[in-house]
Amino acid sequence: MKNNGLADDAKPVRRALVKSFGCQMNVYDSQRMADVASQEGYEQATNIEDADLIVLNTCHIRERASEKIYSELGKIRQLKDDRAREGRETTLVVAGCVAQAEGAEILHRQPAVDIVVGPQNYHRLPQLLRGRRRGVGSVDTEFPLEDKFDQLPASANEAIRARGVSAFVTVQEGCDKFCSFCVVPYTRGGEVSRPLAKVLAEIERLARAGVAEITLLGQNVNAYHGRGEGERSAGLADLIAAAARIPGVLRLRYATSHPNDMSDDLIRAHRDVGALAPYLHLPIQSGSDRILAAMNRRHNVRDYLDLVARVRRARPDIALSSDFIVGFPGESDADFAATLALVREVEFASSYAFKYSARPGTPAAEIDRQIDEATKAERLAALFALLEEQRLAFNRRLVGRRVDVVFGKPGRRAGQIVGRSPYMQSVHVEGDLSLIGAMATVEIVGIGPNSLIGRLVARASREMSLIA
Ligand code: 5AD
Ligand code: SF4
Repeated sequence: MKNNGLADDAKPVRRALVKSFGCQMNVYDSQRMADVASQEGYEQATNIEDADLIVLNTCHIRERASEKIYSELGKIRQLKDDRAREGRETTLVVAGCVAQAEGAEILHRQPAVDIVVGPQNYHRLPQLLRGRRRGVGSVDTEFPLEDKFDQLPASANEAIRARGVSAFVTVQEGCDKFCSFCVVPYTRGGEVSRPLAKVLAEIERLARAGVAEITLLGQNVNAYHGRGEGERSAGLADLIAAAARIPGVLRLRYATSHPNDMSDDLIRAHRDVGALAPYLHLPIQSGSDRILAAMNRRHNVRDYLDLVARVRRARPDIALSSDFIVGFPGESDADFAATLALVREVEFASSYAFKYSARPGTPAAEIDRQIDEATKAERLAALFALLEEQRLAFNRRLVGRRVDVVFGKPGRRAGQIVGRSPYMQSVHVEGDLSLIGAMATVEIVGIGPNSLIGRLVARASREMSLIA
């Protein structure tokens, strides 16, 4: 067997690395770009130093996210120069939402970048890579008419397996909501849903390769309205019902949802579809009606609380999580106190909280009454403390209860395996490696700082064959 770093036709092996920043949708896009690179003959690199093709799949949601990209690009430039002196060429691609928002500006700020490609255009990477000329940067950030997912290679079975038993599937992209703080409608464009049959075919392929848990993704996933059978349109509840029938799909999740798009059908799916995890990420952003109006959220606190009550009636064991922004322009102490009160009323299992960060081009960035950094930091700390208290209380309440766990990998200790609860926590149990890829009922016996400790009760809970 040859092992000289040369392929059979004596071409040097080229390696690619796609580094993902930001949300789960970027993780999915990064995997699809890795599939494109693989089709173009690149092997997967494990670190940037080994990669001939480096793709940064960027995030623009908050200012710090995009600054991180520029500092990373500075480091890569150094690496690229060092390698050029050794006669090795490196191709540097900036993809994702910073690429979309800043376009050619990236080439000015960092001339080491070869290609700038927006989130709607990365299926054109092969042409961009082949067409690239040394020293000339190219930019592709148009919103094209073609469906990029149709143009992308399907993931190979080995790639699917290497990514584990949980997979993301993007079913909807873009957003028409225009919350006043958010760049997404500008960077990802308007809402577009993939056709039902295409999504189901992708899920079938994943399940056949051993994926057990699927998260359906979209910036506004519960607004999904894909082309269904014949002329009918399919909503997220239809998609969930159909996906749950695919053999091998043990658990389904979806993220992220807007409160105004929680249809009755979708709420009913939480009652009727066993595979749908009793977990809902439903961002509210603020607990003050005044701030919600300024954010252009188009719902108030009462609407949200009523919705939570309806969801809990349909599925009493459902856990909720949310996103919050503190220090939105004009947020008073009373507005912030209303956010804390809302959190106390709902009781979340886990949540994300962010300091407001003004994004150029969004309406909120133009508001005069921006909040000072110290106040933002103070509010964030207070909100974090409350959310953390609730997260730990939620975990403590699970002790003694039985939950279904989908096992994904061996634990650090021999004889231990690690899986995920319906509520997204890691669960460690003593168990056989053969359970990886399967779901089993586990009794929670203890909690760690970031995970749960359990005891196996029954394998594949749907069949209820007892282990102990
Ligand atoms: N500043 C702070 N947080 C933001 N988010 C979106 N835009 C901003 C911004 N300009 C947060 C919201 C959203 C999550 C993905 O990121 O809470 O739900
Ligand atoms: Fe941004 Fe979500 Fe609002 Fe759309 S619904 S504008 S993605 S925060």
